[in-house]
Amino acid sequence: MQISFASPASVEAGVLVLGVFADGVLSTAAAGIDKQSKGALSRALKAAPKFKGGRDETLSLYGLPGIGTDRVVLFGLGKPDAVDAVGLQRAGGVVAALLNQTGAAAATARLDGVAIAGKDGAAAAAAEFAFGVRLRAWRFERYRTTEKPEAKPTLKSLTVQTGEATAAKKAFARADAVAQGVFLTRELVSEPPNILNPESFAAKAKELAELGIEVEVLGEKQMRKLGMGALLGVGQGSSFESQLVVLQWKGAGGKRKDEAPIAFVGKGVTFDTGGISLKPGQGMWDMKWDMGGAGVVTGLMKGLALRKAKVNAVGVLGLVENMPSGDAQRPGDIVTSMSGQTIEVWNTDAEGRLVLADALWYTQDRFKPKAMINLATLTGAIIIALGSDHAGLFSNDDALAEKLAAAGKAVEEKLWRMPLADSYDKQIDSDIADMKNITGSRDAGSIVAGQFLQRFVNKVPWAHLDIAGTTWSGKDTPTVPKGATAFGVRLLDRLVADNYEG
Ligand code: BES
Ligand code: MN
Ligand code: ZN
Repeated sequence: MQISFASPASVEAGVLVLGVFADGVLSTAAAGIDKQSKGALSRALKAAPKFKGGRDETLSLYGLPGIGTDRVVLFGLGKPDAVDAVGLQRAGGVVAALLNQTGAAAATARLDGVAIAGKDGAAAAAAEFAFGVRLRAWRFERYRTTEKPEAKPTLKSLTVQTGEATAAKKAFARADAVAQGVFLTRELVSEPPNILNPESFAAKAKELAELGIEVEVLGEKQMRKLGMGALLGVGQGSSFESQLVVLQWKGAGGKRKDEAPIAFVGKGVTFDTGGISLKPGQGMWDMKWDMGGAGVVTGLMKGLALRKAKVNAVGVLGLVENMPSGDAQRPGDIVTSMSGQTIEVWNTDAEGRLVLADALWYTQDRFKPKAMINLATLTGAIIIALGSDHAGLFSNDDALAEKLAAAGKAVEEKLWRMPLADSYDKQIDSDIADMKNITGSRDAGSIVAGQFLQRFVNKVPWAHLDIAGTTWSGKDTPTVPKGATAFGVRLLDRLVADNYEG
């Protein structure tokens, strides 16, 4: 979709989109149209009393007299003093969905007179609205061949009118970079597991070199040399070669050029059958998105590079396929991780922690990052605990945890902190190796998994985000169509912007 910015002017074609504040208070632009239509807009509002100008509300009006266009869409802005970035993104999202469903090819949204608090608030308001349109209008279309034309989304172009068109355009360029990262993540997560495997995922990651990201791909031979027995054991039953992808974005420059990076590590199980500890068939198709953590890291790095973030960032993807086969790892196997610690694999379905054990160790060992954050669709238990509204946050560092929680709040990708403690840790002690990968009880499953990861983390400030409940959505939300959410990309982009760009 074409998105552009322009100064306020009368609209002669397409749909006119106008904001209304809480309790039906008209925005400047809406008031102008009301006047032009000799009060028809106000009368229409009175005739539709359920539309109150609140967040996420919309109202379609047709054939208002005296204005250039035949269709007006009103969207709610909420209370004037509470207009914020997320609210405008949501407004853009619901408007995009409405226009696509009801058949509109071109629209003009008048955001003049709408501002969010702070510097450049009017430009930001216009840009955030457009960002919301972008995020919601994305669609995974690659495998649709017979969809009827009338079922396809219709919106092709959007003009956002604002008194600050130049500044809005600039603010949107930055947001759009992040959106392109979100889309890469959504695409990777949506791809079926016969197409996206460790090798094809690594090949896709290599394309990021075009953006100035340094990309390295380690194959099984190199990983064996490094002693990554935990990761390699998981991929052992697959006919695809396990891969470790290392992405480096060196954007800090100047005096900060050689500054230690912030590191992001992703679980990338391109399909999780459970291995020999095979999962039940019902719902197993969901395990195509067990690479969601790696998908987020990939999209995040793309966004950082596209917006030329002033940060040194490293992304590490642990890519494996967890399959049962004659070569597969068995329950009872003992593997030696890169850290030297040995692990008794009681359950081959608790594979994400095995992959991350080596990926985390490698990352801290090689890069000495100033902070290390991993993302993983790690446990079903986090879905039981938090559902899809919050991802689980585990950390050895209160300051880092607070920064993450704040970033999550700001972009509405919410985190809820869970505890870590020695009492949980000792439950994974093994009788014959340094640890086992499960406890044998279902209690505190997500925390136990976090404890396992922490055994591979040294002094570095570290956080683990368990995104099993937030990676895939069964329903549309204002800015995220159902399916792959890319939860984490906007959150971590915000974390970087607010804390690590000097
Ligand atoms: N990938 C799964 C976790 C998962 C489950 C993600 C459902 C998304 C939706 C993970 O590898 C797994 O199988 N975890 C097991 C751990 C158990 C064996 C200790 C689980 O959660 O059941
Ligand atoms: Mn599993
Ligand atoms: Zn898994």
